[in-house]
Amino acid sequence: MSDFAYKNGRLHAEGVDLARIAESVGTPVYVYASHGIERRYREYADGVKGVDATVCYAMKANDNQAILRLLSKLGAGVDTVSEGEVRRALAAGFDPEKIVFSGIGKSAEEMSFALSAGIGEFNVESEPEVDLLADVARQMGKRAKIAVRVNPDVDAKTHAKITTGKKGNKFGIDIDQAPAVFKRAAAHASLEPVGVASHIGSQLTSLDPYRQAFARMVELVKQLRSEGIPISVLDVGGGLGVGYTGEAPPSVAEYTEIARAAAIEAGCRLVLEPGRRLVAEAGALLTRVLYVKEGSSKTFVIVDAAMNDLIRPTLYDAYHPILPVTEPKAGAASRPVDVVGPICESSDFFAKERALPPVSAGDILAITYAGAYGAVMSSSYNARRLVPEVLVRDQQFAVVRPRPSYEDLIGRDRVPDWL
Ligand code: LLP
Repeated sequence: MSDFAYKNGRLHAEGVDLARIAESVGTPVYVYASHGIERRYREYADGVKGVDATVCYAMKANDNQAILRLLSKLGAGVDTVSEGEVRRALAAGFDPEKIVFSGIGKSAEEMSFALSAGIGEFNVESEPEVDLLADVARQMGKRAKIAVRVNPDVDAKTHAKITTGKKGNKFGIDIDQAPAVFKRAAAHASLEPVGVASHIGSQLTSLDPYRQAFARMVELVKQLRSEGIPISVLDVGGGLGVGYTGEAPPSVAEYTEIARAAAIEAGCRLVLEPGRRLVAEAGALLTRVLYVKEGSSKTFVIVDAAMNDLIRPTLYDAYHPILPVTEPKAGAASRPVDVVGPICESSDFFAKERALPPVSAGDILAITYAGAYGAVMSSSYNARRLVPEVLVRDQQFAVVRPRPSYEDLIGRDRVPDWL
């Protein structure tokens, strides 16, 4: 459930009226509720009590330093996919031992940086990557702990653009080829193969694909052990979904129970990599209505946020609830409208044929469930300034990423002196 609720007719994040934030910071702006993030992290941490486990937040969902700091202070680990993310994790105070470095395309420079930082686990995804990491580590006189990401060939039944664990996806190593890759890794003195990893996709709303994937991973761990490779880590990835359209996905407790059981059966330390589930419901994008345009066949609500600020509807046809910050009067008639941004593309929309209560120019709307894969995927397309972010705690709020100035925006470029 979203962390935004009406109190006395005004939409709030915790104790803060969202209109106050819109007034003081301007729109568009992302707002995050810190207690919600903390509560969900604790659900994960509590769910794996009794087994040796690290909840490694997949920071690609939201990499703001303030959110990272909040989670590192709670004892979380972190899942990263680039040198930039490793650097962000270190800057936020994460214990390097609790940093997992995933991703199918790590460069030698990135590997070398992560090794010098002393990160806990590299998740490798191909034979050439195994060999390159072995070389880089050897040259540095280090030994890299690795987990091999396997593709367990299960259908996650999610959007095609975010499914990853089916044969034919670019991710991981086919599970039947995995033993050979582990042997190849074990032959390198500079590598220590410790784990079996997998991530089958994102926004999963059923536990069945997890049950299948975890069972295959446990089987692999046992097989590898019998062949003399002492696997001690089971990294089950992330992917648990949220209820964008009001559906009720499995609870964190139900999910952690099957992950926990798999780790016990495998006799392994457990690593989890949740991203979306920790932050999606805690975030909203506030936007102001600029115009209501009555077309001959449609009504367009034109707002000041755009696809460059939140690209999920454009990219994945994603549904995000939209709520007016002032609570509509009981019984106010809704009518279908398209909520669109100012960018010069028809794909710049937040909702189509969405039933909304009456809105007029100047009103503030909250696009909710936007805490994950919102700000991180934003850009400055159409020379729009990068969207700012605000963190709320109880009655207080702070700007945790300011809106850049137009000077910042233009000043990033360099004009060669031969022009
Ligand atoms: N671990 C790995 C290796 C991943 O690739 C991902 C997400 C996660 C963990 C975290 O997954 P989560 O718990 O957040 O589902 N931009 C898309 C989502 C892309 C997810 C990519 N990988 C969206 O907006 O829906």
